[in-house]
Amino acid sequence: MLILSCYSNKGGVGKTATAVNLAHALALAGQRTLLCDLDPQGASGFCFRVKPSKKLTEARFFEDVQRFTKAIRGSDYENLDILPANMTFRDFDVFLARMRNTRSRLKKALKAVKGDYDVVLLDCPPNISTLSENVFRASDAIVVPVIPTTLSQRTFEQLEAFFRDHDLPLSKLHGFFSMVQGVKSLHGDTITEMSKAHKKRILKTQIPFSSDIERMGVHRAPVTATAPRSAAAQAYSALHRELVARLG
Ligand SMILES: Nc1ncnc2c1ncn2[C@@H]1O[C@H](COP(=O)(O)OP(=O)(O)OP(=O)(O)O)[C@@H](O)[C@H]1O
Ligand SMILES: [Mg+2]
Repeated sequence: MLILSCYSNKGGVGKTATAVNLAHALALAGQRTLLCDLDPQGASGFCFRVKPSKKLTEARFFEDVQRFTKAIRGSDYENLDILPANMTFRDFDVFLARMRNTRSRLKKALKAVKGDYDVVLLDCPPNISTLSENVFRASDAIVVPVIPTTLSQRTFEQLEAFFRDHDLPLSKLHGFFSMVQGVKSLHGDTITEMSKAHKKRILKTQIPFSSDIERMGVHRAPVTATAPRSAAAQAYSALHRELVARLG
């Protein structure tokens, strides 16, 4: 079972949009996929029209295998299940702080579904916390959306520095440019600079700024399902193909 995460320490960069479309693309390709929303905002579940279990508290998430698996919901799409987030997930860090092996609890919790899925995709909240360290350790690959601007570039470099300082494998990081606007020279300049400086860690696929993606919140479905011929859907499909080629 492969564990992928959509993660950035920066907010509003397209983690959820990517998680939702990548999960759908994986499922379409026949991979048994679980999209696990770790963000108390619950946006991934919202996009698939699923309601969270109120009984899956932050403690039960990590300690109660039955409650964890019972909270998994089906979706409208074959091969795709969702574990929606609820507000108690905001206490993950408080809970983890009290645990032994505080940085490997997520990896252990996900063993509950080993055998049921080919891929677990984690939609992560925007911070760099104990939960994030759990994500870094549990994930085989971490997909990082980067809006090509100075502050996003800085955030990506902070993440690389964190990996170096904590002896985490930099090879897990797969950045890609998100919400790209060709008319903006800053976007073009940042893409050129970052592609050179972080060659191995930046994917070729770029996700354009697109109103189809913005409207996902209205349709409550992945753009790869509602507008499969759109530039946005094609870009997410390309991102899926590039990741599959990289990860094997
Ligand atoms: N490529 C895109 N083009 C246009 N709008 C986008 C694109 N990707 C995401 N958005 C919009 O930008 C906003 C933030 O996107 P999203 O929720 O995916 O980011 P996020 O990184 O998950 O945010 P958070 O840090 O709050 O979890 C949303 O309103 C979403 O619809
Ligand atoms: Mg999000």
